[in-house]
Amino acid sequence: MGKKEIYVDLIKYIQALFYHEFDLVANMSNMVSLIYEKVPNLNGTTFYRWKNDELILGPFQGRVACMHIPLKKGVCGKVAFTKKTEIVADVHKFSGHIACDSRSNSEIVVPVFWPGHHRFFGVLDLDSPLFNNFDSTDAVYLEQLAPLVFGISKN
Ligand code: SME
Repeated sequence: MGKKEIYVDLIKYIQALFYHEFDLVANMSNMVSLIYEKVPNLNGTTFYRWKNDELILGPFQGRVACMHIPLKKGVCGKVAFTKKTEIVADVHKFSGHIACDSRSNSEIVVPVFWPGHHRFFGVLDLDSPLFNNFDSTDAVYLEQLAPLVFGISKN
């Protein structure tokens, strides 16, 4: 199965699983678990929440991760500032990259916004041991997938 098909299936599954489920911790936990299981070549899948002007670790899969990330620091901190998805082909060439897991070689970080407005919620961060593992397909689908974390209502 190609990457696109994996994401399409993942979105359908998550839409069903989060139908009328609005608990954020429960949904973030199952979302990172599903992504980690279904998307190939990952060594980490992590939610960070924007709280008191910094990113704080949320539900994740993978090795122990850093718990506080200041604005503009690392890839996640950059996304918290720009509010734009960041694809990093080689994390070793990204100035200020925070190496939580030495196995990581590439990374994608997607901003997440509270539903209905533009208030910043946090980021979804995927790490890969492969160089250049992420492309615009990952960006397009992860940007669709991440907001499902707020739950799917009846209408
Ligand atoms: N590498 C990230 C930090 C988070 S960990 O990868 C889970 C960064 O540079 O922001």
